[in-house]
Amino acid sequence: MCSKGLISVLILYLCFDFAHQHKENHMSRLYRQLAARMPAANDWDFLMFTQQWPSSMCKVWTHKKPHHHCVFPKKPDSWTIHGIWPTKKGTKGPFNCNNTWLFDVEQIRPIENELEEAWTNIEKETALYNLWAHEWNKHGTCAASLEALNSQLKYFSKGIELLNKYHMNDMLTAANILPSNTTGLNAQDINKAIVSKLGIRPFIACEFEDGIQYLMELRICFDKQMNVMECEGEHEINGLITNCVISKEIMYPAREQPPNRQLVQLYKFVNWVQWFTL
Ligand SMILES: *[C@@H]1O[C@H](CO)[C@@H](O)[C@H](O)[C@H]1NC(C)=O
Ligand SMILES: *[C@@H]1O[C@H](CO)[C@@H](O)[C@H](O)[C@H]1NC(C)=O
Repeated sequence: MCSKGLISVLILYLCFDFAHQHKENHMSRLYRQLAARMPAANDWDFLMFTQQWPSSMCKVWTHKKPHHHCVFPKKPDSWTIHGIWPTKKGTKGPFNCNNTWLFDVEQIRPIENELEEAWTNIEKETALYNLWAHEWNKHGTCAASLEALNSQLKYFSKGIELLNKYHMNDMLTAANILPSNTTGLNAQDINKAIVSKLGIRPFIACEFEDGIQYLMELRICFDKQMNVMECEGEHEINGLITNCVISKEIMYPAREQPPNRQLVQLYKFVNWVQWFTL
């Protein structure tokens, strides 16, 4: 009697133990699988900083879509930020390094107005915070493994800082390369303008629309100490890092609305008064 009971208890115990162990294995396997799906946030070599030319972006956004409109930064010669992308040499990404750390506009409120000018969501018909949320969730969560970029405010502030310091309009203008609706550029001249300022070649990105090649983006890279460097592992042709068709001219279109002269005067005057009264 007594030993029978004891054996039953023992069997019961073994059963429980087995079930428990089995469950634990199952759980830890599940956990490992989940963890594997999120890439290691620090598994990248450099940051790719991409500026875009709003007029070209607008050509693509509105192409054959008459109900599409564009949002432009106030300054007509402003390039805007597309993103700061952690990149492992020879690949793209990593991406989406922390699926629970989502974009939160409250984190960037202090610089929201500056961001609207520097990191403009050109595509008016998309949600207001679409671009910032996308860039943070996909790239920012990976960039955050660097202490200098480990918050949303730091990541987006760094973008503004880099744009001010490495503004493509400054470098192109210095080389006498100006937006034009009529005259195209060649990739060699764009490259030369950047090399003469930074000592490294940019990645020159083009896109065709109706058989016309537009200058869309210029990308430069930074190491983890934020020293400027050439973007490694990109497509090279004839000594240029580019996806453009280098035998064809590249359009760098002027802004759709040339700014109203009187408005500019008024703006300057208001600035002047503000300067005086502050
Ligand atoms: C993801 O982000 C949250 C919120 O910042 C943080 O608490 C958590 O530690 C992060 N997870 C990983 C794997 O880095
Ligand atoms: C350039 O072309 C656009 C039309 O695409 C026009 O609205 C704009 O006024 C032109 N800009 C200049 C400076 O000629």
